[in-house]
Amino acid sequence: MKACARGAVVAVTAAVAAVALAACGDSGGSDSGGGDHPRIGVLLPDSTTARWETNDRPMLNRQIKELCADCEVEHANAKNDVAIQQAQMESMIADGVDAILLVAVDSKALRPTVTKADQAGIPVIAYDRLAEGPISGYASFDGEEVGRLQGKALLRAMSDGAMGDRIVMMNGDPSDPNAVSFKKGALSELEGKVEISKAYDTRQWRTEVANMNMSGAISALGAGNIDGVYAANDGLAAGSISALKANKVDPLPPVTGQDAELGALRRILAGEQYMTVYKPFEPEASAGAALAVAAARGESLDRVAPDRVRTSTGGTVPAVLLTPITITVDTIDDTVVKDGVYTIQQICTPQLDAACARAGLT
Ligand code: GAL
Repeated sequence: MKACARGAVVAVTAAVAAVALAACGDSGGSDSGGGDHPRIGVLLPDSTTARWETNDRPMLNRQIKELCADCEVEHANAKNDVAIQQAQMESMIADGVDAILLVAVDSKALRPTVTKADQAGIPVIAYDRLAEGPISGYASFDGEEVGRLQGKALLRAMSDGAMGDRIVMMNGDPSDPNAVSFKKGALSELEGKVEISKAYDTRQWRTEVANMNMSGAISALGAGNIDGVYAANDGLAAGSISALKANKVDPLPPVTGQDAELGALRRILAGEQYMTVYKPFEPEASAGAALAVAAARGESLDRVAPDRVRTSTGGTVPAVLLTPITITVDTIDDTVVKDGVYTIQQICTPQLDAACARAGLT
């Protein structure tokens, strides 16, 4: 079926139908599954976490173009708003794109829209976060392993590793299935070994919410009574560390993170953050792009995705599940610098000169 006709069929409101018809009029649409100029919609969740716009978006774009020079890519960022993401996805469905790559703001809330795409014959590739509903493929990292790496590193960093060490847990947004996996993996390492004095879920992964929660934890527990902080990602680490500093906690307890953000690498060099988890962007984008291009061309996804993952609908779909890597001060050089994610010049501000020299970043 012609993609634009397909879009018009599923359009439920007059407004959406008008968009669909306008799109048909403009371009004549494209054939689903292997037509000229396959069109791929890329739906990113927010700009709160730097990776989506800084790493994933340009890399996905480049990788899709490398695999399919005549593919067209349409991006949208939902700015952390479920209704905006639903509308963005609806409009891509109405517009008759050939495949959608989705990082869901809220996997449950997006489920009906994923179902709508499926009914319109548009394959949805879940990217990084396992979206609910009838998805066709998945590209991501082993989320529980991320949590285990964070938990292990935190135990290592709380030097005495003594029973009874008290930690505060800053978990991510539970509507992101990854956040649930990170927490599960971390708890499998931490439970029974430390006392979890406070644990928070952080709505929309917001740095300022983590900051507020950490201030609350410090008031409740006392500044000197926090021996470690489990922060699920670098944004939450940043919010926690700024609250610890504002409350004059000195020395700072070890704090974990995730995403290898530039700010996190600088905090690690400055001795403020203990670690981050690096999920190499390039292979993930490459897997996402390969799945999206194959889906848009109507080709088999098994060929580009060796693993399988169980979805919310009960079946399994082709998946690529990559392995995350711990970064501490000693391994910045060997990971993100070696991979060309950041240059030493980008990471090493003048204030970090001595720290960078010690870490071999010269
Ligand atoms: C997760 C993702 C992390 C982090 C977080 C916040 O789903 O795997 O890398 O960015 O979202 O957006």
